[in-house]
Amino acid sequence: MNAYDFSGKVAFVSGAGRGFGRRAAEMLAKGGARLVVTDHTDELVNATVSTLAASGAEICGLSGDIAVEETSEKLAALIAERHGHLDLALNNAGIAQPQVRLHETESRLAERVIAVDLMGVFYAMKHQIPLMLSTVERTGSQCAILNVASAAGLMGSPKLAAYSAAKAGVIGLTRTAAVEYGRKGIRVNCICPSFTKTEMVTAPLETSPHGREKAEANMVAFNPMQRLGEIDEVVDAMLWALSPANSFFNGQALSIDGGLSA
Ligand SMILES: NC(=O)c1ccc[n+]([C@@H]2O[C@H](COP(=O)([O-])OP(=O)(O)OC[C@H]3O[C@@H](n4cnc5c(N)ncnc54)[C@H](O)[C@@H]3O)[C@@H](O)[C@H]2O)c1
Repeated sequence: MNAYDFSGKVAFVSGAGRGFGRRAAEMLAKGGARLVVTDHTDELVNATVSTLAASGAEICGLSGDIAVEETSEKLAALIAERHGHLDLALNNAGIAQPQVRLHETESRLAERVIAVDLMGVFYAMKHQIPLMLSTVERTGSQCAILNVASAAGLMGSPKLAAYSAAKAGVIGLTRTAAVEYGRKGIRVNCICPSFTKTEMVTAPLETSPHGREKAEANMVAFNPMQRLGEIDEVVDAMLWALSPANSFFNGQALSIDGGLSA
């Protein structure tokens, strides 16, 4: 992993209990950031907060469902109370959907995926941006938001209609926010990983009726590199995108996908 300097920065990470979010929180803390983290349950938040605090990080957290706007309001209030400002936000929490054809998709399932994966990012940015605007005004330093979209949001993704639509929506939100707030000193980008070895992907592989090996081979069949991504390959790009040194990178959907979208 590359080392990035986040010293003195206040950084927010959602979905910090496991997967990309957990690793990104660790690496942001290692780079000197002060962290505010969230996840769905107290157990997930407490596990990350206690482990990172034990290794010397300044970190606090709050649990909640990102599909509920109040969660983002409470998180913004916590950030304001603890730190008075916000420099960086990694809006990473999200859910997958079971593979099912569009016409057989339960509408409630689609609504939930869109509520978490799209509205969750909308609410997060809505409540982060005022904090960032006042940060820029007071300190003159730049802020950055990185949303986690997906390769599925860039292309037609059979049997993943709701997920694909939600992630395409995240790309639209990101580009629009980048254009609205670039002149105000807030960079907004998103990242589009393909299948990577987090629990979101490995758990269904383990229980696949086709067996793990066949299921994994099917999953990577269309990927030019013929393999799953590693967590650190994606998190390294997240850190690069958020890095204060990366000051002219704005409005982009960055693919980390072994060439899948090419
Ligand atoms: N792993 C992949 O292959 C892959 C590929 C493309 C995009 N993504 C995206 O990456 C992001 C992180 O996923 P991951 O792969 O680390 O998976 P993960 O399942 O390991 O982690 C997701 C985290 O988000 C949290 N979360 C889920 N729903 C939530 C909610 N409603 N409120 C609060 N927290 C919630 C979970 O508790 C979990 O800690 C997601 O947005 C996902 O869609 C993952």
